[in-house]
Amino acid sequence: MKIEILGSAAGGGFPQWNCNCNMCKGVRTGSINARARTQSSIAVSSTGNAEEGWLLFNASPDILTQLKASQSLQPARQVRDTGIKSIFLLDSQIDHTTGLLMLRESDTPLKIWCTEQVREDLTTGNPLFNVLSHYCDIEWNKITPGESYNDIPGAQGIRVDVLPLTSNAPPYSPRRDKPLPGDTVGILMTDESGGKKVFYAPGLGEIEVPVWVAMQAADLILVDGTMWTDDEMQQAGISKKSARSMGHLPQSGEGGMIEYLDKLSSDTRKVLIHINNTNPILDENSEQHATLKNKGIEVSYDGMTLEI
Ligand code: MLT
Ligand code: MN
Ligand code: ZN
Repeated sequence: MKIEILGSAAGGGFPQWNCNCNMCKGVRTGSINARARTQSSIAVSSTGNAEEGWLLFNASPDILTQLKASQSLQPARQVRDTGIKSIFLLDSQIDHTTGLLMLRESDTPLKIWCTEQVREDLTTGNPLFNVLSHYCDIEWNKITPGESYNDIPGAQGIRVDVLPLTSNAPPYSPRRDKPLPGDTVGILMTDESGGKKVFYAPGLGEIEVPVWVAMQAADLILVDGTMWTDDEMQQAGISKKSARSMGHLPQSGEGGMIEYLDKLSSDTRKVLIHINNTNPILDENSEQHATLKNKGIEVSYDGMTLEI
């Protein structure tokens, strides 16, 4: 299975347009050792060949930049072409969905896989599906948490198990601060030829038993790396929101993501994604980055490719 990290940052990207926190200022001026990043999205394929194509997870507002930078997603077989066969939305958040509008020139309806709740948000509070109905239209394929799918175009030969996650619904959702299973999902992908497994969850607020079981089964974990500390944005004086209130488990501290990743086998590859621009791990010379390195935890970057 091949995974291309198209974007590795959380909402806002890195640097964020209006932000002068230490990290954003640092990357803008070159005073820290960090690379700029676009908002999170990945492409997955079992072979990566042009005929099979790719399954895109989430459509970030930076999708056009990401597709320009990617070598694999434009097979160029005809005058209008794409390697993207379908799009799987893990939630209805702006940073994971608004890139759909940039794909409106599609010759065929966009094949979208998401839960009923995500579809509801995308036809009401964030009505992207309604807007797209005036362009290329969409073909909605319903995803049910707890179910498995092995027929998603672009991901032939990959079984996708869908796990409901405890995170949060977006501010425009009627379920904000009272999310239901299906507002945010994670996935466990199994390569049906070799049996290798990947767990992917860019928005994960709590590690409940089924999630922990999936994480233990995975050979590669690509997981929520939004914030180092729960009050990181408060400390930077830029927001009252905490990581946990937004549905993101911070990395450090008791019960944090590192504690869980540390319990996994040393053979498991552990990679953080959806990294907020306030997170000190973005500075490769930081103490926090060194802590991760010591524990064998990687920080994903745009253009990174993973293969299992
Ligand atoms: C989140 O991950 O919590 C959201 O994407 C935040 C945002 O972009 O506003
Ligand atoms: Mn986000
Ligand atoms: Zn910032």
